Amino acid sequence: MFVEKLSSMFSKLLHAQPKYITAPVMPAAAQQLPPDRLPRHVAIIMDGNGRWAQKRGLPRSAGHAAGTEALRDIIRASDDWGIEALSLYAFSTENWARSKEEVNALMGLLLKYFASEIDELDRKNVRILILGDVDGLPGPQREAVCSAMERTKDNTGLKLNIALNYGGRAELTRAAARLAQKCASGELRPDDIDQAALENELYTAGLPDVDLLIRTSGEMRLSNFLPWQTTYAEMIFDSVLWPDYDRAEYLRNLRAYASRDRRFGGVKADSAGSEADEAGAAGQNTEEIS
Ligand code: FPP
Repeated sequence: MFVEKLSSMFSKLLHAQPKYITAPVMPAAAQQLPPDRLPRHVAIIMDGNGRWAQKRGLPRSAGHAAGTEALRDIIRASDDWGIEALSLYAFSTENWARSKEEVNALMGLLLKYFASEIDELDRKNVRILILGDVDGLPGPQREAVCSAMERTKDNTGLKLNIALNYGGRAELTRAAARLAQKCASGELRPDDIDQAALENELYTAGLPDVDLLIRTSGEMRLSNFLPWQTTYAEMIFDSVLWPDYDRAEYLRNLRAYASRDRRFGGVKADSAGSEADEAGAAGQNTEEIS
């Protein structure tokens, strides 16, 4: 009798444990993020799918499929936690150089993703924007992403930007050409070209600058991703391979961001006076590079 009771209690405890760890803890933890310390715009380079698959003796396409699951979760978390804009690097202009098999697998996943997620994303008021040369995508993928953009264009929730056939230098070159065309047609004078005018020709026109750039898999490069928009972004290079990246890791990264001191090339308001006094006395230049 006693043994039975003990065994039933033990079984209940075992079953209760995952519920306790996963469900109530995460939302409470997310609430601990101070809203004024939340990045408005997060950009992620989802790296490490190939290595994740290789470690398991699987084809690279299996890593991309697992990476798509991580992507679903991170999009939901961004929406749940009130991130304004999320930009994901899904396929670069350089990725065409991969094997035909891998490119086909990625293009297939893209179609599957939009077919399975579009209803939920639209219901959640998510606005989808593709960053990159959509015209260079194969027909079915082009149709799927154009229809997703059209369907969600008036949504006012999370701004979800998916970089596809995207390259930062190509984006800047395109912006320069568009400005030149406007000058040639008389719509704009060369003297009127300022940073705002150039920004207006980027795929990200109207979006805030990237506040936090995360790259997974331990690589420490930008790889031609949003060079203009990340000029003052905080960077986090996380060693986790993308398919293993989850809400808990995302939350850790957001907490690390919240603790950073962003100065945008200036000096901290509370230290400006005293540093200026000290440097002035010593005859130094007080300008600080941040
Ligand atoms: C980089 O890892 C990842 C990519 C080039 C593709 C990212 C795509 C997804 C996460 C899923 C598909 C996207 C959508 C929108 C459905 P890698 O292959 O370079 O990894 P490695 O450096 O370990 O080889």
